[in-house]
Amino acid sequence: MSGPGRAAVVTGLGAWLPPRVVTNDDLAVHLDTSDEWIRTRTGIRRRHVIEPGEATGDLAVEAGRRALKSAGAETADVVVLATSTPDQPCPATAPAVAARLGMGAVAAFDVAAVCTGFVYALGAGAGLLASGFARSALVIGADTFSTILDPGDRTTRAIFGDGAGAVYLTAGDAAEPGALHGLSLGSDGEHSRLIEVRAGGSRQRSTGLSAEVADTYFTMQGRPVFARAVRHMAASVRTSAAESGWDLGDVDTFVLHQANARILAAVAAQLDVPAERFVSNIDRVGNTVAASIPLALADACHSGALVPGARVVLGGFGGGLTWGSAALVWPDLEVPQVRAAAWATS
Ligand code: UT7
Repeated sequence: MSGPGRAAVVTGLGAWLPPRVVTNDDLAVHLDTSDEWIRTRTGIRRRHVIEPGEATGDLAVEAGRRALKSAGAETADVVVLATSTPDQPCPATAPAVAARLGMGAVAAFDVAAVCTGFVYALGAGAGLLASGFARSALVIGADTFSTILDPGDRTTRAIFGDGAGAVYLTAGDAAEPGALHGLSLGSDGEHSRLIEVRAGGSRQRSTGLSAEVADTYFTMQGRPVFARAVRHMAASVRTSAAESGWDLGDVDTFVLHQANARILAAVAAQLDVPAERFVSNIDRVGNTVAASIPLALADACHSGALVPGARVVLGGFGGGLTWGSAALVWPDLEVPQVRAAAWATS
C-alpha cells in the first residue's frame, strides 16, 4: 500500500464446488487405473466436476458471492479472476462474473498463471490497492480442468478437479490481522513446455491448419514438475516467511497448492517443519488449479485447522512455470459453507 503501514487486508473468504463427485473407482471403470494407485501416489480419493454446459464463470460467481457475504460487502472496486480455463478464449471471464454479481461498471480482468494463478491475482489485487486505484478487490481463483483433460489420460484425469474460491481484500493497516505481506512471485519460462495445452492459441492458429485433437488437451510431465514444485514452493515459502520477519518454526499453518499429498510432505521435509502444519484437503477435491489455495483455506476454517491469529503462509506452483507465496496473520472471518457434500468423509 502507498504510505507506511498501509496494506491489503483479507476481510472475506468464500468457496464453491460443483455437486457432481467423481471417485477413484468411477475413473477405474473406464481407465486403466485403481483407487489404490491414485490414493498412494497422490492422496486423492475424489474430485468434483461440472456438468455439460457449465463453465468456470458459474463457479466463480458462486465463490465470489460467498466471499462478498463473508466480507459483508455488496461490491468491490475491482474483480481479479485467476483462471486458465476461461469461459471462452476471448473476452476475459471476469467482467461477466462482475456483472452477474451485480457489481456494476467495476474494473475486471483475468490473470493466467495456472496453479499459481491465485497468488498472482492476490498480488495484482494488492497492487491496485497499493496504487490507490482501488479501496477493495474481489480476488477469485476458479478452474474447470475437467474441460481440457484427455478423456483417455489416466494420469491427468486422476489428479484434477473443478472448483472456485475467493477472498475479499480491503485497504487497511499492515499491523491488523489479515494484512498480506511477504509477497514473493517467480517464473521459469525455459521450462514452460513441462505443463501445456499445445493448440488453441496464436502459434497453432496462425498456421491456418486445424489442430490435432491430442494437442487440444492439457499435458504435464509429472516427474520433472514434481521436483520443481517441491524446490520452488519451499524456496518461495522461505522468502515470504523471512520477509515477514518470521522463522519457519513460527509459522502455524502452511496453506500450499494442493497438487499431490507427496509434494506437501516433501516441502515440509525440505523446510524441516512438522507436516501436520500443512493444510490438506486434496483427498476430497484433487488439484483444483487456481481454486486450490482459497478452497483449502475455506476447508481449513471449517475443520478448525486454521484459526484466527494463526501465522499463515500461502504458496503455489504451476504452469509457466510459475510460483509464488504470501504471508498473513489469519483474521476472524465468517466463512459461508462450501457445498456440504465436499467435506463429508468416506
Ligand atoms: O498443479 C501443477 C503442478 N503439478 C504437480 O505438481 C504435479 C506433479 N507430479 C505428480 O504429482 C506426479 O508426478 C504424478 C501424480 C503426476 C505421477 O506420479 P508419479 O509417481 O510421478 O508417476 P509416474 O508419472 O512416474 O508414473 C509411474 C507409473 C507409470 O507406469 P510405468 O511407465 O512405470 O509402467 C505410469 O504410466 O505409473 C503409471 N501411472 C498410472 N498408473 C495407474 C500414471 N498414472 C497412473 C494412474 N493409474 N492414474
